[in-house]
Amino acid sequence: MAKILVATEKPFAPAAIEGIKKLTEEAGYEFALLEKYTDKSELLDAVKDATALIVRSDKITLEVVNAAPELKIVVRAGAGFDNVDLETTKERGIVVMNTPGQNANAVAELVLGMMVYGARNQFNGKPGTELKGKRLGIQAYGNVGKNVARIAKGFGMEVCAFDPFVDAKDIEADGVKAVEKVEDLYSNCEYVSLHIPALPATINSINYTLTSLMPKGGTLINTARKEVIHEEDLEKILRNRPDFSYISDIAPDNAEELKKEFEGRVFFTPKKMGAQTGEANVNAGLAAAKQIIGYLKDGDETFRVNK
Ligand code: 3PG
Repeated sequence: MAKILVATEKPFAPAAIEGIKKLTEEAGYEFALLEKYTDKSELLDAVKDATALIVRSDKITLEVVNAAPELKIVVRAGAGFDNVDLETTKERGIVVMNTPGQNANAVAELVLGMMVYGARNQFNGKPGTELKGKRLGIQAYGNVGKNVARIAKGFGMEVCAFDPFVDAKDIEADGVKAVEKVEDLYSNCEYVSLHIPALPATINSINYTLTSLMPKGGTLINTARKEVIHEEDLEKILRNRPDFSYISDIAPDNAEELKKEFEGRVFFTPKKMGAQTGEANVNAGLAAAKQIIGYLKDGDETFRVNK
């Protein structure tokens, strides 16, 4: 019997697991669960008879693929699939999918929560500022960016977005100003929120040239990927601009040094938690299970990312 394995180092909420198990068994497949694993060997062992795999940010490398001779499909329950080796899976004929949009609201709510936290001096009791009337620049207007815009408008912020892959008309239809150049986002906005994937073109792309354009009191918010930040340049802007703040859901390698040197101006969540809500886990987990069943039963390749 085909086995659907949920292998997540960072576990889903129990309701998501129950839902995935139910869908799997009703479809006539076996359900297996490996969560909170601490060593890669546990993953390598668990995948050895898996037909399908549901993961989060878990790294699906050549080694994992080689350990999984039965594997037909991997679904990354979430948006970014930079953790899955697309070439190796493609060569082996393994389909890879993501579940776009399913955890977008959770990430977007965290963005605004972190912005309030920053604006209120990390809740230290000193007078802070309000978000109302401030300008927010959204870099990449996908599912998360769109939700960030919706919520930020509720706060009374002026929202603009840069996304060369989205028609300006579609951005403007949401009451968001579309900017043509990424530099304009940085030079005009007190807040910039990153929603770009980690790709060769975006890795290290958020550098000193861009961040130094931000107006006085500028805050950069990163709930996207650690890799898009040029970490040396981040240190440089924090050092050269005592008014600049950086808030991130993905701590940089030198997080501890930055926290010491720039106390009150940087904040990092202890573990990436943008998508860590019961609702997002249920949405993304169940979508992943349904996509696997759709593929195994009907060959449905909607949401495939390694064509
Ligand atoms: C995503 O790409 O969907 C988010 O970064 C969430 O990642 P996570 O499932 O590891 O929390």
